[in-house]
Amino acid sequence: MFQIVKKEQLNSAVTRMEVEAPFIAKKAKAGQFIIFRIDSHGERVPLTIADTDAQRGTVTIIFQAVGRSTKMLAQMNEGDFLADFVGPLGKATELEGYKRACVIGGGVGNAIAYPSAKALYNMDCEVDVIAGFRSKDIVILEDDFKKVCNHLYITTDDGTYGEKGFVTNKLQELIDAGNQYDLVIAIGPIPMMKFVSKVTEPYGIKTLVSLNPIMIDGTGMCGGCRVSVGGEIKFACVDGPDFDGHLVDYDELMKRNTFYKEQERHDAEHCRLLNQTV
Ligand SMILES: Cc1cc2nc3c(=O)[nH]c(=O)nc-3n(C[C@H](O)[C@H](O)[C@H](O)COP(=O)(O)OP(=O)(O)OC[C@H]3O[C@@H](n4cnc5c(N)ncnc54)[C@H](O)[C@@H]3O)c2cc1C
Ligand code: FES
Repeated sequence: MFQIVKKEQLNSAVTRMEVEAPFIAKKAKAGQFIIFRIDSHGERVPLTIADTDAQRGTVTIIFQAVGRSTKMLAQMNEGDFLADFVGPLGKATELEGYKRACVIGGGVGNAIAYPSAKALYNMDCEVDVIAGFRSKDIVILEDDFKKVCNHLYITTDDGTYGEKGFVTNKLQELIDAGNQYDLVIAIGPIPMMKFVSKVTEPYGIKTLVSLNPIMIDGTGMCGGCRVSVGGEIKFACVDGPDFDGHLVDYDELMKRNTFYKEQERHDAEHCRLLNQTV
């Protein structure tokens, strides 16, 4: 059993939790993830390891309540226990040897981008962060990012905070201004990762994206997380979740991720626990 030792609401839908998991805290690297189950009947849900504290033996997760399991997790409190919390899973992001990086997050994808920005910055890489959100009320991690980058640019689609526009506009502007990145990391909604990759491709800038296909076992056995990268079949849970953004078949990924939409909608509508008034 894994105890929730700290809980913090970052915006109306996004929660940060610290969970006691000393072995994972000792081993985890940026880019890896855990799979949790709330109880023995629960779904297996992957979440990125947003941070670790090896001394306290804790792992931080940041998640958006979007469906049954993440909404149930958001209702849990400090002192409660999770039945399973397995990790670190997946390959760590390869971050060695870069001098100038631009790390880009979209929405809750900023939580997944944060550990890479932090790791690069701690390796003396010069890091620019572009954190994009739909509007001011859902901005998260501003103070956290400020501590782990050289420049932080916040964009909002509606212009209610930071600069108005998409992260791709800001990236293009920074490239046009002469910033010479040897690495771009983009993590967020699939279309965002696709269009960031389109911006960097003509300049030959190495671009990593973190893919979020449906995962079940997280060990390469079930085939659920199959993605096409450079014409080859890969399994995001063991070969990723990071891949070369210029080689990913984003359209196939989008199609596969909507495969269970109807069941997920049905599940959310009929879950009595979530629909009760609290
Ligand atoms: C490697 C990886 C890391 C992730 N890290 C984060 C993170 O740090 N923070 C965060 O908020 N979200 C993260 N996600 C997405 C998160 O796993 C889903 O939001 C969660 O599974 C939704 O489950 P649900 O029961 O609440 O919602 P559901 O109603 O079941 O699903 C809502 C949507 O979530 C996605 N989803 C559902 N089940 C899975 C599954 N088993 N595996 C992957 N995606 C699924 C689908 O796109 C689905 O349409 C990550 C996904 C992957 C693959
Ligand atoms: S989640 Fe089963 S193969 Fe990746």
